Amino acid sequence: RKGKTPEEVVKKYLQKVKSPPEEDCTICMEPLGGPSGYKGPGVGPVSRAESVGRLAQCGHQYHFQCLVAMYNNGNKDGSLQCPTCKTIYGVKTGNQPAGKMEYHVIPHSLPGHPDCKTIRIIYNIPPGIQGPEHPNPGKPYTARGFPRHCYLPDSEKGRKVLRLLLVAWDRRLIFSVGTSSTTGESDTVIWNEVHHKTEFGSNLTGHGFPDAGHLDNVLEELRAQGITEDDGLTE
Ligand code: APR
Ligand code: ZN
Repeated sequence: RKGKTPEEVVKKYLQKVKSPPEEDCTICMEPLGGPSGYKGPGVGPVSRAESVGRLAQCGHQYHFQCLVAMYNNGNKDGSLQCPTCKTIYGVKTGNQPAGKMEYHVIPHSLPGHPDCKTIRIIYNIPPGIQGPEHPNPGKPYTARGFPRHCYLPDSEKGRKVLRLLLVAWDRRLIFSVGTSSTTGESDTVIWNEVHHKTEFGSNLTGHGFPDAGHLDNVLEELRAQGITEDDGLTE
């Protein structure tokens, strides 16, 4: 277990604010000059001087207690994301269940990428029991359609996306447990916020090729999870 309390984690990313602006906190919608509107278990008292903080990189300001409450509602991995501009502080991780990610090159071209071979990624996640980081701890989750096969062009950019997807996998950000928007089933393994192409030779589902913008879209979605080109080099 990490030694830091939620208050310590949040404080690490904040700068002091001497006089709060005459604005509302966008977490609780109450004035920054007054107390946090957040009341709940685990919300302790806080001194006047510390009641509002400024996130060090993006500058957005919130009640300290509102940020702590937000942190406690997440998976408490030591990272914090600004709810206004999505700037990530620390390393964001997800709640992807246990499983396996493999890949290999297959000697075929994807529609729209005639000059290169294809990378096939195979994700395999078995069903299991939800942990404390999942919506219903202790309850089983199902895992439909595994192994899931996904495709990328084996181009320079495609290989870059693969490197970053490997980082995303290690940070448990590719899948989540929740309700499938396709099937409506709850307590099941679902894709998280990073799009994958699961159709190889056509695009009947909208999750196939050709799709000229796909790699750039994925790079943008990875960036929104805090994964950038630098990560692909170091890990
Ligand atoms: N292939 C790739 N991505 C998909 C697919 C698909 N067949 N279906 C949905 N998505 C995308 C959606 O566009 C959305 O962004 O995944 C995200 C989450 O959608 P859900 O339906 O909640 O995800 P999930 O239930 O995991 O996927 C449904 O995808 O790979 C297949 O076998 C899988 O049939 C299942 C389908
Ligand atoms: Zn607030």
